Amino acid sequence: MSRTEPPIRCQDLAVGYDGEPILTDLSFTVESGSTLALVGRSGCGKTTLLKTLAGALTPLEGDAAVLDTELPETPPPGTMGYVPQSLGLVGHETVLMNVLHGRLSDLGWMDSLLGRFSGDAKIDACEAIEQVGLGGYERTRVKELSGGQRRRVAIARAFVQEPRVLLADEMLSELDDETARSIVDCLAALQRETDMAVVIVEHNLEIAREIADAVLRLGSGGIEERMTPAGTPTPDSTLAGDRTDP
Ligand SMILES: Nc1ncnc2c1ncn2[C@@H]1O[C@H](COP(=O)(O)OP(=O)(O)OP(=O)(O)O)[C@@H](O)[C@H]1O
Ligand SMILES: [Mg+2]
Repeated sequence: MSRTEPPIRCQDLAVGYDGEPILTDLSFTVESGSTLALVGRSGCGKTTLLKTLAGALTPLEGDAAVLDTELPETPPPGTMGYVPQSLGLVGHETVLMNVLHGRLSDLGWMDSLLGRFSGDAKIDACEAIEQVGLGGYERTRVKELSGGQRRRVAIARAFVQEPRVLLADEMLSELDDETARSIVDCLAALQRETDMAVVIVEHNLEIAREIADAVLRLGSGGIEERMTPAGTPTPDSTLAGDRTDP
């Protein structure tokens, strides 16, 4: 990626299913080290947009690229982390093995087939599990966990990847305030360390404003409002790109 291109850029993007648009005219960018929050009523298309950015859906119109890779192609393995709303965990496997899936891109095909991860990957995975407050659950099967615990496994799986772009769909739902706060702190620390660009879908506008550099309210088939964290509307299509670190 050229140094000047933001890791996420969309121009007049339309997203939807089977040729039918759910959201149109989406133009925005997200710079390295910045966070964009997507808010809006249930069913407005937040997940559809995130899935499109993740390369799981083909854009219906417009131009969009993640890490300089035009959608629906996906950037090199390991560079983009995705926490889907549906989590995408393997229930009969352990917490540790699910988190290690975040490091599959480190392995050759034979090792990945056999799940042969390095000692370093296992140490990193255990650290990520500890960070999300699941220390002691490494050998527990995911199907035996609560909804919030499962969500934290999916977060650890994305964190252990140390991706350059993180797409997180309702990452904090099902979590109590204290646990959600600790996850937000982990995310901020990782973002400081790695300068990753983050797009987060968040139902709670207050939380969205707190953790994001810019907020897009989606609805009525497009972007209804662009907000800065203070809640003031902005006319600029470049939303999450102007943060100046203190
Ligand atoms: N696979 C699909 N095929 C066709 N339509 C779909 C599909 N998945 C979702 N939709 C429709 O697309 C619209 C947007 O759904 P989406 O999941 O993006 O909403 P959302 O904003 O993420 O909602 P929520 O906050 O409830 O998660 C909805 O009307 C939904 O019915
Ligand atoms: Mg959704």
